[in-house]
Amino acid sequence: MIVLKDLTKEFGKESNKVVALDNVSCELPQGKFISIVGKSGCGKSTLLNLIGGLEKPTSGSVIIDGVDLYAKKESELAYYRNKTIGYVFQDFYLEPELSVIDNVSVPLIIAGKKAQEISRLAQDRISALGLESKTNEPTKNLSGGQKQRVAIARALVADASIILADEPTGNLDSDNSSEVVAILRRLADEGKTVIMVTHNLEEARQADITVEMKDGKIVEIKDRQ
Ligand SMILES: Nc1ncnc2c1ncn2[C@@H]1O[C@H](COP(=O)(O)OP(=O)(O)OP(=O)(O)O)[C@@H](O)[C@H]1O
Ligand SMILES: [Mg+2]
Repeated sequence: MIVLKDLTKEFGKESNKVVALDNVSCELPQGKFISIVGKSGCGKSTLLNLIGGLEKPTSGSVIIDGVDLYAKKESELAYYRNKTIGYVFQDFYLEPELSVIDNVSVPLIIAGKKAQEISRLAQDRISALGLESKTNEPTKNLSGGQKQRVAIARALVADASIILADEPTGNLDSDNSSEVVAILRRLADEGKTVIMVTHNLEEARQADITVEMKDGKIVEIKDRQ
């Protein structure tokens, strides 16, 4: 279970203050495909970043399977993030000059795995996402859909149980978008927790649960199951 308790995130001070997240509380089950929707600026990315342990809340807590993320020391939080959470972003965030396998290997290197294991695990993930023929290609030579699949492989390689995706189809055409959403759907069916921010309501509907946000608050949680 992912529990958000009185979660608030403010940016700026005094007259410049923006309340990006306004006292949000909810419980999200693990092992489901969850979509987050809402207008630009309503706080979707902020919420995702806080669930991902990437940004400290102004107040409140994020508790994942009983672990209070922001009660941890920064070094422990970094370790927890690398082990538990995989991130997939709109702009892929790959190293363009590095090969597919080197990009996918990054979380394993951080985790301190041995070279042989790194190469085996990375290659397995690359193959599972249909990118075998691109293994040694620099990622700058890949199509958008292929890049996003590399990013998904990287998010999964250290066996994260939670995949956070912020508009993962934002830079893709409709065929590649459908494929990426289908991959995320399948991951949830295999037991991963997938939380995806999207502007596309057709994509949002493929999730088990849709969280709708407005002005820094959750206004509706729709459970399709
Ligand atoms: N680092 C920051 N500094 C200042 N304000 C910020 C920062 N990050 C976000 N904000 C503000 O917080 C609010 C919520 O931003 P957020 O990025 O979470 O929105 P969003 O729902 O993801 O929007 P979009 O759909 O456009 O990506 C916005 O008003 C935004 O301007
Ligand atoms: Mg955003």
